Amino acid sequence: LSDGPLKGKRVIVTSGPTQEPIDPVRYISNRSSGAQGTAIGKALVALGAEVVFVTGPADVPPPEGVQVVRVETAVQMLDAVQAALPADAAVFAAAVADWRVAQAASSKMKKEKGEIPTLSFAENPDILATVSQMTKGRPPLVVGFAAETDNVIAHATAKRLRKGCDWIVANDVSPATGTFGGTQNTVHVISDDGVEDWPKMAKDAVAERLAQRIAGALVG
Ligand code: C5P
Repeated sequence: LSDGPLKGKRVIVTSGPTQEPIDPVRYISNRSSGAQGTAIGKALVALGAEVVFVTGPADVPPPEGVQVVRVETAVQMLDAVQAALPADAAVFAAAVADWRVAQAASSKMKKEKGEIPTLSFAENPDILATVSQMTKGRPPLVVGFAAETDNVIAHATAKRLRKGCDWIVANDVSPATGTFGGTQNTVHVISDDGVEDWPKMAKDAVAERLAQRIAGALVG
């Protein structure tokens, strides 16, 4: 571990999408690449943090120097986060599926049966809200993300209060911004102190500035 302001601090980062099984060979997921979460893990390691990196099946490899915990489903991700506690901070950058298939089949569903299947869903746990609202052992700093396409600040401000996290990093993902799949991101950091508008910058730069802000909050 490198020397740096976060030396001795343990930070949990979630990243990537989750995959929710339909049967042993099929799943439901989303287009998260894991790029922003990976950049955050890397930036925290660079400041000396001990990082537990809980990741769904992402397109990009996990950063070097973290403790990687690979999961597939939201339920597994919550379990992994809880097992990684206690921590000084938690950053929830994963794109967790809101729903899972209520009863995944234990063997491959066969087309030959002639029936078209109907899927019913169950709600997944909200990992950010669960950890933010822990009465015992809550990390002192909990950071969530909010990808929005309209009324970015208003929606993200409401989300911060609803979930109970300390900071929300809100980003505008409307198509015109090119955020999805792109290398740049335009974010607003919402906390008790109000709204900070950050200029459009590389996702790596967003991660570095966020890691610095986390160091400032944990170390002063
Ligand atoms: O509600 P929404 O999905 O927009 O919230 C986004 C934030 O909540 C992100 O930080 C995401 O990682 C987190 N989240 C979570 N568990 C869920 C859904 C979202 O941790 N089931």
